Amino acid sequence: MKIFHTRSGLSTYLNSKKTSNFSVGLVPTMGALHNGHLSLIEIAANQTDLVVCSIFVNPTQFTDSKDLDNYPRPIENDIAKLEAAHCDVLFLPSVSEMYHKTEQWHIDLGDLDKRLEGKIRPGHYQGVTQIVNKLFTTVNPDKAFFGQKDYQQFLVIKKMVDQLKLDVELIMCPIIREQDGLAMSSRNIHLSPKEHADALILNQVLKFLEENFKTQNLINLEKEATKILESSEGIELEYLEICNADNLEPVNSEDYPSLVALVAAKVGRTRLIDNTILR
Ligand code: PAJ
Repeated sequence: MKIFHTRSGLSTYLNSKKTSNFSVGLVPTMGALHNGHLSLIEIAANQTDLVVCSIFVNPTQFTDSKDLDNYPRPIENDIAKLEAAHCDVLFLPSVSEMYHKTEQWHIDLGDLDKRLEGKIRPGHYQGVTQIVNKLFTTVNPDKAFFGQKDYQQFLVIKKMVDQLKLDVELIMCPIIREQDGLAMSSRNIHLSPKEHADALILNQVLKFLEENFKTQNLINLEKEATKILESSEGIELEYLEICNADNLEPVNSEDYPSLVALVAAKVGRTRLIDNTILR
């Protein structure tokens, strides 16, 4: 695997590789890689000729500086995992390589920036789009791979791609879970065994929604699921919502062509998110 620390080094290399039929896949990450990330590498390798994974803990998307400081950075381990997954290129830039001190960025994300994660973490998606746009410009990938785990993030990036008319195909990859159902996350290492066990209710409630959304009123179902989570030990619920899967607007009737249920909660001091596409 080739490792690049600079944008110019990476793009020179990629330009030398790109011939008419040669396709490049990009998998952006913040490192602390787990099997969820590695599944994106595998899917990218099946769909493109050369896979670039980026590891960059992006400061502009953190709304809490402690969270940024505490973000795990096991880089040697990550490199070993990427080598084993046959990733072709790792892009590992420094903060100063990616940002000038005085840089400004704003993109109109409409309601996507104001609801759910956007509401709880103001500015988060501005930071995400800022860095993903920079990565797209540097790598110029044919396809970019993102996890359904961050469902709202995917819609936000799609909105940016449409708005800026970027020439990249976005691929959404399924959520990879632990055997017990907990969605894999770099933050799971902060969970004590008890917190890990408490957190399983998140996936269980999503399954409950999957089993019942066809036969029950969605508003009542959402209320019932919320009650379960609010009375669950160790869970501090932030939101549970059944939304229109295309734009995350709240649903108020049964006849939506696409539905997604999204949940966010704190378990101890660790914030977890999960979701399921119902329809
Ligand atoms: P990060 O949280 O490291 O996630 C990188 C990618 O891995 C994202 O597309 C995310 O949805 C996906 N992913 C995480 N957990 C997953 C799981 N259990 N199953 C499948 N895919 C999973 O998301 C970010 O980084 C950043 O916001 C980034 C896009 C890199 C911009 O900084």
